[in-house]
Amino acid sequence: MKSQPAVTLPLPPAWPWYSEETADRVRRRVLAGDVFAFGRDPAVHRLEQWAREYFGVSHALAVSSGTAALWTAFHSLGLGPGDEVLVPTYTFHATATPLFLLGASPVLYDCDPLTARADVRDLESRITASTKAIGVTHMFGLPADMEAVSRIARARGIPVVEDAAQAHGATVGGRKTGTLGTVGCLSLGGQKMISGGMGGLLITDDSDVYQRALTMGHAHERALEELPPDSRWRAPAETGFGGNLRMHPLSAELALEHCASLDERIRVRTSVLEGLSDRLSRFPFLVPPQTPAGCTRGGWYGYKVVYRPELLSGMPVPEFVDLLKRQALRVARPSTRPLHQTWPFQNRDLGLPGYDPHGSRPVYIDADLPQATELYSHTIGFPDKHLHVPADDLLDQYAEGIARVADYALYRRERKD
Ligand SMILES: Cc1ncc(COP(=O)(O)O)c(C=O)c1O
Repeated sequence: MKSQPAVTLPLPPAWPWYSEETADRVRRRVLAGDVFAFGRDPAVHRLEQWAREYFGVSHALAVSSGTAALWTAFHSLGLGPGDEVLVPTYTFHATATPLFLLGASPVLYDCDPLTARADVRDLESRITASTKAIGVTHMFGLPADMEAVSRIARARGIPVVEDAAQAHGATVGGRKTGTLGTVGCLSLGGQKMISGGMGGLLITDDSDVYQRALTMGHAHERALEELPPDSRWRAPAETGFGGNLRMHPLSAELALEHCASLDERIRVRTSVLEGLSDRLSRFPFLVPPQTPAGCTRGGWYGYKVVYRPELLSGMPVPEFVDLLKRQALRVARPSTRPLHQTWPFQNRDLGLPGYDPHGSRPVYIDADLPQATELYSHTIGFPDKHLHVPADDLLDQYAEGIARVADYALYRRERKD
């Protein structure tokens, strides 16, 4: 292969970024010592107001992270020891691990082998009499088949927790993810489309879920300000149950800027990433992210491609990735493994002294979740966190780098034949 790598252009700056106005606002608050609130801080208040309007829901609660949103959601559904909660294996760990804090048992289900979407049939097959809730993740921004999930949940009278951490603004049938289950959870941290550095949101139309949520992370001032006198959650709200999960006001200030520009940025990002997909679809051995009709990916958190070695002379995944890197493509194997390949899901004894889920908690081997195992082993991530602005020339160079690796694979096979 040529010695000069195909990619010579730099990647655009990585998301997130902020305006001078936001930086000034944060600076003013820092200099005034206006950096905490036990009740509802004005920036937090504006953020929650935005969320209620944007998602069209009755209640929005800002929390300290997406993980905190999920913990709060599970708490507010009253889940605990003896309760099984179905969660996807192909997700980020926080979709499931807060259940350990509550003594409940996460039970994993498989995903579609190409899109990482929930495999609804597999999900249904894992329901038992102890199943008390279903968790779904809109992975990489792709909405799960919520019609099917909701049908299953309704038939059993159990709630659905949507993990929309990666799917800000994603839609299915024109409806926004996070609003399609009983309670929706978003992360507003790190490199999410709306980022306060750290932060999260819980959204719901269920007043009881919302009121109970206040007792987990927003005890005392905030909860007592809001809970009606006759709420059954008022007395416990005085002390709460050990979580301090309030969003930092400065995080809310940062996030607010991204809220205002969300839809426009989704539009730009979608066109940039679809441009990447157009280029990749020239190569039969790569399957770019597939977005079924009727769905949009919103923030597209993560851009993952499935590599099919059998269509590239059997070149193994590590070698393919290595050759792409030599062409200066910023590609990598995904850093988060499916949950069944991680320690808490392979070992019964978690070493958590208070954790007694009552009864047997399932542990897993790869064969239990074969589609996720297969998908993960062939997934390659592209540098989507840098792809928030048009980058046609760079993406052309990415295509050129891939073409060179393909030519090399062909050349090597011909020499062997
Ligand atoms: C699917 C999913 N769920 C939950 C989380 C947790 O969010 P946070 O990092 O804000 O706690 C993330 C974070 O990346 C995520 O991707």
